[in-house]
Amino acid sequence: MQVKAPRGTYDVLPPDSQKWQYIEQVIQETARLFGYSEIRTPIFEHTELFERGVGETTDIVTKEMYTFQDKSNRSLTLRPEGTASCVRALIEHSVYGGLMPVKWYYSGPMFRYDRPQTGRFRQFHQSGAEVFGSNSPYLDAEVIMFLVQILSNLGLRDYELHLNSVGCPLCRESYRQKLIDHISPVKEKLCIDCQSRYEKNPLRVLDCKVESCHQAIAGFPYIYDSLCDDCQEHYILVKATLEDSGINYLHDNNLVRGLDYYTNTAFEIHIPSIGAQSAVGGGGRYNGLVKACGGPDIPGIGFALGMERLLLALDSLPDREEPNSKLDVFLAVLDEKYDNQAMQVLDRLRKAKIMVDRDYTGRSMKAQMKYADKLGARIVILMGEDEVNRGCFTVRNMSSREQLEVQTEQLIPAIIDILT
Ligand code: HAM
Repeated sequence: MQVKAPRGTYDVLPPDSQKWQYIEQVIQETARLFGYSEIRTPIFEHTELFERGVGETTDIVTKEMYTFQDKSNRSLTLRPEGTASCVRALIEHSVYGGLMPVKWYYSGPMFRYDRPQTGRFRQFHQSGAEVFGSNSPYLDAEVIMFLVQILSNLGLRDYELHLNSVGCPLCRESYRQKLIDHISPVKEKLCIDCQSRYEKNPLRVLDCKVESCHQAIAGFPYIYDSLCDDCQEHYILVKATLEDSGINYLHDNNLVRGLDYYTNTAFEIHIPSIGAQSAVGGGGRYNGLVKACGGPDIPGIGFALGMERLLLALDSLPDREEPNSKLDVFLAVLDEKYDNQAMQVLDRLRKAKIMVDRDYTGRSMKAQMKYADKLGARIVILMGEDEVNRGCFTVRNMSSREQLEVQTEQLIPAIIDILT
């Protein structure tokens, strides 16, 4: 029987892997400009971390976690997201005792057991950022500016930034009651999922994608109208800073996010052209999470971008350039007795940061030239008896078709001259 990759997972083969490297590089570079440093955490954690961190009423914890017992009967879970792990690391290493705020970014695989479809996988990849130690609304703005800058550096412009405030536990409590009063008479009209969501966390009904649920709750009270003075002022400052920075947003009364830890600012980035799973990223403030996970009372805020969805968006750009996989130099070895010497030449060129390859399958001279062409080599170096006896190489510029003879010690400068 042929073994295939598990459902909802996939391989990234060349040349697609170059697109991944490109996105990761853009994120790293943008993170550096914004003053974020990389954190790497394990891909599995104690299950309890996500139960407490992500929230026991969320879809992630109730339905989607890859949880298993290890050989010592510990309950472990493949991480479904990165925020809880960052919070754990912050507390475990007492990082909050040092310079504040702590600004981290991360990239890596996440795991959620859900029905796979375009843009939704069971192993998917996120790049995200988390900041701890400041409740400044200007930091909320910075985090959103960071996210928007990544999109813009990737050449993605057709996105929508949805923004809302879900308030603090105080204003949310009074809002929750208003929402329950509004929904309870129409409870039976909600989808099955929403009927159980309503019991555990009525706010989650607001971002249900089922149209009949939207209709059933029409006219629902907005959380915005229940915000306390502090939360309202915070939200107004975030919006004003974004406006002054030229960042467009849509205030979205339905946006509550699917994870339990959010307080105040919540946001999502949608690119409608990529299909039903249009959310390429989301995030928000989570001021109670560090404390809930056993740490001090320290505020936090962050976001995560879904890499697969970013790739979908990049692929749908009309003027997208394909990654450049061209080879600088191909070394054609015309007699196997020079195989060993050829390896020294490859080594010298690579140490001089020149990208070079050769044949290892015994191709004829003609077949090596064809192979070099297929690899997109810009230069072919010929190494045959004649060249070796005279201590030189024949260097062929594949675009101009010019050919010159170069002494061994002049090889690297001659190649650099053609390449630049
Ligand atoms: P999230 O909204 O659950 O937030 O996920 C963030 C992004 O990950 C989504 O917008 C989507 O692009 C991508 N994503 C989620 N699930 C899948 C999936 N099954 N397949 C493909 N892509 C997926 C979080 O995870 C929060 N930790 C974000 C955050 C950081 N909030 C504060 N800090």
